[in-house]
Amino acid sequence: MPDTPLDAPAASCKVVTIIGMGEVGTALGRSLLARTDMSTILCSRPSEASREAAAALGRELETDLARAVAEADLVLVCATAKALDGICGQISGHLRRDAIVADLTASTPAQVTAAETRLADDPVRFVDVAIMGAVSIGHAQTPMVCSGAHAAALAEMAGGLGLNMRAMAESRVGDASRLKLARSVFAKGMEALLLESALAAEAFGFWDELQLQFENFDKTPMREHLDMYLRTHLRHAERRHVEMVASETQLREAGLPSLTTAAAITRYARTVDLLAERGKPPDEIRDHGRRALGWLLEQERQGRGPAGDRPREDADEDV
Ligand SMILES: NC(=O)c1ccc[n+]([C@@H]2O[C@H](COP(=O)([O-])OP(=O)(O)OC[C@H]3O[C@@H](n4cnc5c(N)ncnc54)[C@H](OP(=O)(O)O)[C@@H]3O)[C@@H](O)[C@H]2O)c1
Repeated sequence: MPDTPLDAPAASCKVVTIIGMGEVGTALGRSLLARTDMSTILCSRPSEASREAAAALGRELETDLARAVAEADLVLVCATAKALDGICGQISGHLRRDAIVADLTASTPAQVTAAETRLADDPVRFVDVAIMGAVSIGHAQTPMVCSGAHAAALAEMAGGLGLNMRAMAESRVGDASRLKLARSVFAKGMEALLLESALAAEAFGFWDELQLQFENFDKTPMREHLDMYLRTHLRHAERRHVEMVASETQLREAGLPSLTTAAAITRYARTVDLLAERGKPPDEIRDHGRRALGWLLEQERQGRGPAGDRPREDADEDV
């Protein structure tokens, strides 16, 4: 192998290998196979589903991972987080110099860091990639964020290939996965909250009506909603706590469990207690999304007693 530095330009991407032929691998494969300026190798462990997925894209499935990556400038690992370590073990020693190995699995920061370590003796550039949306909706254009010393090189290469990838500045491997997990608290939490809200509405026969109310959210950009929540949380936590306690009572009346609602009540109660314990911050902090977040983070870091120990009856009086 020539002893060139690990900084080959994006234009040098002539061969891409995709490992894993599930939803992600198939969507990226469909998009990359349409390109005539490079070749794409579809690879996975031998299974009927993977063979069929490759065949649906008009290709034969490569099941020898070492052979599949030997010529690749870019390896997109689109298998599962559980499989990541084993896959890195199989491709180690077979990668070409300067290749970029991008982990697109939903691995934890610890798993992705371990994968990077697994390939530490290979002359390759390892990048942590987090898929930030549902591929069934966004297909190959689903937003992705990448991190690590070679993130910018990968984002440039991916952009050249028509993919939607953004590099985190001054980041390390593990940061993209960490960002994704923070996003998941919101994205998956929203799914769980939606379920509880929809169950309550359906129980009263109001689900269609409630969906109409949700359409109001479409009228304002998401970013503004997020800022509004942060900007108003400290000021209105107490009264929102009261409202959520009433929502919980209604859920129980409908014979439904309060799961995510109870978690929201705990969050509001904690904020109310922190404000009582530490004193209200001045308005210029309380009514400013970023500053309010900073204040709350500082209080959380100082620690306090167990959350959720606030008697809920306190709030009932105000309903
Ligand atoms: N789909 C999404 O919208 C989405 C969004 C964000 C993140 N992700 C993450 O992206 C990754 C891929 O998602 P997906 O939806 O495409 O998953 P998937 O549908 O389960 O596909 C996984 C693929 O990897 C293959 N595979 C499993 N173990 C392997 C191994 N040891 N060696 C080689 N191939 C192996 C599977 O083969 P078999 O055919 O044998 O099972 C299958 O083809 C996951 O980590 C997922 O959490 C997905």
